[in-house]
Order: sequence, then C-alpha cells, then structure tokens
Amino acid sequence: MSWFTKTFSSTIGRKLVVALTGLFLCSFLVVHLIGNLQLFSADEGIAFNAYTYFMTHNPVIRAMEIILLLGFVFHIYEAYALSRRNQGARSVKYAVNHLDQNSSWSSRNMGLLGTVIFIFLLVHLYNFYFKLKFGEIGLDAQGNKNLYAITEEAFSQWWYVALYVISMVALAFHLIHGFQSAFQTLGLNHKKYTPAIKAVGYVFSIVVCAGFAAMPLYFFFFK
Ligand code: HEM
Repeated sequence: MSWFTKTFSSTIGRKLVVALTGLFLCSFLVVHLIGNLQLFSADEGIAFNAYTYFMTHNPVIRAMEIILLLGFVFHIYEAYALSRRNQGARSVKYAVNHLDQNSSWSSRNMGLLGTVIFIFLLVHLYNFYFKLKFGEIGLDAQGNKNLYAITEEAFSQWWYVALYVISMVALAFHLIHGFQSAFQTLGLNHKKYTPAIKAVGYVFSIVVCAGFAAMPLYFFFFK
C-alpha cells in the first residue's frame, strides 16, 4: 500500500478528509446562499436568471463544480467509512453507556442527518441543476433560461416546501456538530478558543439554514 492510500484509509486520515471537505462545503453554502438571495429581488427573476446563466457558463465556475463534486464524494465516502469502522471496532457493547449524557444528539446522529441531506440533494439537483442544464425551460424577457419560474412552481407545492424546511433543520443540526468537530480534528481544541468556535458554528449553521429555508417559505406564503 502506498503512503497515500495508507494515510487516507487510516482513521486520522479519514477524519482529516471529512473535516477539510466539510469546511470547503461550508464555504460553498455561503456562496450559494448569497447568490440565491436574488430570489427575493422584486424583478420577477431577471437578476436570478442572469446569475444562474453566469453560474452555468463561466469556465472558472464550471471547473469549481468538479472540485465541488469531489468534495461531496470524499466527504460522504470517508464519513461513511469512519462510521462503519467505529461500529465494527466495538463488537461487545459497554455494559453502562450514558451516551445521551456524554454527547449531543446531533453528534450521535450525523449519519442519519447526512442521509436526509443526501436525499435532499438528489431531489434538489434533479429539479434545479439538471433541469437548468439539460431540460426544456422557457426564456425570460432577457433571453435567459427562466429558472425563477421553475423555482416558483416548485415552491408553490406544500410537500416541496416541507421537504426543504425539514432538510434545512437536518442541515443545521449536521453543521452545528460538524463545524466544531472539524476544528477539533484540525487540532484547534483549546479551553480559550473552543467555546468561541462553538458559538461561531451555532450562528453560522442557524443563519445559513434559516436563509435557505426562508426561500421556499417566501414563495409559498408571499408569491
Ligand atoms: C432553498 C434553497 C435553495 C435554492 C433556491 C437553490 C437553488 C439552486 C439553483 C438555482 C441551482 C442551479 C444554479 C446554480 O448552480 O446556482 C442550484 C445548484 C446546486 N445547489 Fe442549490 N439551492 C438551495 C439550497 C441548497 C442547499 C441547502 C444545498 C446543499 C446542501 C444546495 C446544493 C446545490 C448544489 C450542490 C448545486 C449544484 C452545484 C452548482 O452548480 O452550484 N442547494 N441550487
């Protein structure tokens, strides 16, 4: 086995990959949220459609898409491999195990939360990304594909809105634990800094997920 394979299949190697890809995916969420805020502008989607045209035609963004895809693949694969290893490591269960007192609910359910987010991603990419790239979509007044109309249609259905809101709650719990856990893996575990990292993680997770959840709710109730 080469040093590369050895490093990335060791527990610490896998943890590092999960931490680094997780932080990278957090940066994607910030960019994605800021871009999508154009859904709230009062121009019936002109700015939003121009933005999605830019996102699908700019060569730098297209190259970033491949890195993003790799980020998701490595994050999911390595996290899954870690949880399999952790389950397998202890064949005899502890006689007394106060896990509910020793750890948070989200830290014990990262796999479940991740699965909800994964299902959300499949539905989301099908409806937004693949329709935009490969679907037949009408054009807006500027001649751009009218993804705003697709968004409006999707978010006029209660079950679609419910799926998004529930998924954003799952994402918030996933991020609250994941954010501070990533810094811990990177060695930033200090009496002085850990509470600040936890606080930033809370604020980040809640602001980002509330921002995303506000979009379907806005369309459903106000459009
Ligand atoms: C209500 C909130 C959201 C809306 C309205 C929305 C909308 C869109 C749109 C219009 C696209 C295609 C154009 C583009 O690339 O920007 C897209 C792509 C994408 N979305 Fe979302 N999104 C939302 C939330 C999320 C969340 C929470 C995630 C991740 C957990 C996510 C992950 C992605 C990914 C991975 C892509 C494809 C990559 C890319 O080209 O940017 N989206 N989304």
